Amino acid sequence: MFRCIIYTSKAATAWTEQDVLALGRQNDTHNSVAGITGRLIYQGGHFIQVIEGAAADVGRLFVAIAADPRHREIDVLLDCPVSHRSYGASSAAAASLASEAEAARGTIADFLQRAESGPPPAEDGGLTEAVGELEKAGELRPDSAEIRTNLATVLEKIPDRREEAVSNFEEAVLLNPFSWQAHYDLGKLLLEVPGRVDEGIAQLETVTRLAPGFADAHTSLGVALSGKPGRFDESVREFEAAALASPGSEDAHFNLGAALAQLPGRQRDAAEQFQTALRLNPGDADARYRLACIYAGMPGRTADAVGQLREALRLAPGNSAAAELLAKIHPGP
Ligand SMILES: Cc1cc2nc3c(=O)[nH]c(=O)nc-3n(C[C@H](O)[C@H](O)[C@H](O)COP(=O)(O)O)c2cc1C
Repeated sequence: MFRCIIYTSKAATAWTEQDVLALGRQNDTHNSVAGITGRLIYQGGHFIQVIEGAAADVGRLFVAIAADPRHREIDVLLDCPVSHRSYGASSAAAASLASEAEAARGTIADFLQRAESGPPPAEDGGLTEAVGELEKAGELRPDSAEIRTNLATVLEKIPDRREEAVSNFEEAVLLNPFSWQAHYDLGKLLLEVPGRVDEGIAQLETVTRLAPGFADAHTSLGVALSGKPGRFDESVREFEAAALASPGSEDAHFNLGAALAQLPGRQRDAAEQFQTALRLNPGDADARYRLACIYAGMPGRTADAVGQLREALRLAPGNSAAAELLAKIHPGP
């Protein structure tokens, strides 16, 4: 059995290629005598090193390395027994170090950058792998809200890992309380967790304070509040805010219309919203049906209701509710 330690650290000062090569040469000599194998990579002020060998030798070397003032913030990623070595004798490690560091552009700095900014994969096959990578990145940079958010976004797509997604989003908003995107993602996810809807609502309320112009947050909050007894008026206000923030969004006007239509005395306002929605998308059969429902209840607007219902049925012939209403208010052919 061997012992393997992998750690990362930050160089105390900037290292030149010559410095790295010199250290590599020295390590080579020491390590071959001590029976240690491994790899050391330096990139952009960061080291990552794997050392493996007999447990006592690895332990002794690590104590010496950790005490070395040339680097700091030593972070052990892995310290475990392994049945075999993964690295051969670090043959001319010095020579290969620079090229390895060069070739390893995909290592530390790039790896972290990918983890922070890369879009999460869409395909199921890549999800678990992506989680592994992002978890590693999270260990390397535990204070990055972006990595936590990206990790949570991937976890969210994996059935059975939603709880972990929630805790990573929670971690992300703690790390960056101003990240309205993280609050939004957390809020939307909590709305789907039984017993945590109120927390979801609170997160979305935070988003509307941090980013008042973000219409989707108002809409999601409006939908969530509409299901809460006694909070319907607040829900309407959120739909109003969404329509104000996104005046060109048909959905926003439709949602506001649908909410207003449920309030006595707001039928005229509701009709206005559906009219706006239809100006934005004349092909929305549902908006036409809902507008017709409002006209049907208004004195002297039956003809308008009939017109809207006929158009709705032309657009969506299977809309049985529209057909029924039309038959009721306008019997005959
Ligand atoms: C990033 C880094 C990695 C190191 N890796 C090794 C190593 O693999 N082997 C080694 O003997 N010394 C390594 N050293 C040097 C040790 O910290 C320490 O200086 C050396 O083991 C002491 O040897 P000495 O007592 O013979 O001077 C490393 C130092 C740094 C900063």
